[in-house]
Amino acid sequence: MRITEQATGHDLVQLIPNGAAYLHKLQELLSPRRLQHSLEVLVAMEPLIPIYMLNPNQARTAALLHDVVKDFPDEELGQMAAQAGIRFKHPVETLGLYLHGPVGAWFIEEKLDIHDPLIKAAIHTHSYMRDHTEFHTPLNWSLRFADLLAEGRDWYEFKDRILPLVNTGNWQTAAAMTMGWVIELFQQVGNPIHPEWYVFLDESRRLTIS
Ligand SMILES: [Fe+2]
Ligand SMILES: [Fe+2]
Repeated sequence: MRITEQATGHDLVQLIPNGAAYLHKLQELLSPRRLQHSLEVLVAMEPLIPIYMLNPNQARTAALLHDVVKDFPDEELGQMAAQAGIRFKHPVETLGLYLHGPVGAWFIEEKLDIHDPLIKAAIHTHSYMRDHTEFHTPLNWSLRFADLLAEGRDWYEFKDRILPLVNTGNWQTAAAMTMGWVIELFQQVGNPIHPEWYVFLDESRRLTIS
């Protein structure tokens, strides 16, 4: 298949080694809405691959599977985190909102036999929790951008601001803008903010001037 801007999520799944098996697993685990979001993130990731010279298999696999455990209740995520040996540095990390990234990274290795450290790092850190890997890499930020730019997201004003930056390879500025916006969004909706986010914001701003 020739990849065009019109490629659907299902078209792109076919390009991923074992993609059909991953999709089958997602169909078991995710609500139809979440599955649709996962496919939309896969579509949103596609134009970022050439811009950021990403490995297509890594980028597509991370995009498709990034929310693989998000529909598990927090209690089950907590049990999987214990199995995975994930240690909490702060109480907010026990919330699914944060925990689904790290547990998802563990899950894809355990249940889907995916061992690629870059795919795991991107999924781990997409929920804005840092592990031992670098938080600010083009792949990790590309996954966060694709997650926010996915078609079903209605943050139009924010999308309009970051899209020109993301599309021109200016990921550092887009990252700083995104980090600030996510903190504002969480403040507005009353979600607890991980204290490390202010560190990420500071780091992201420094990326733009280095
Ligand atoms: Fe997520
Ligand atoms: Fe997502």
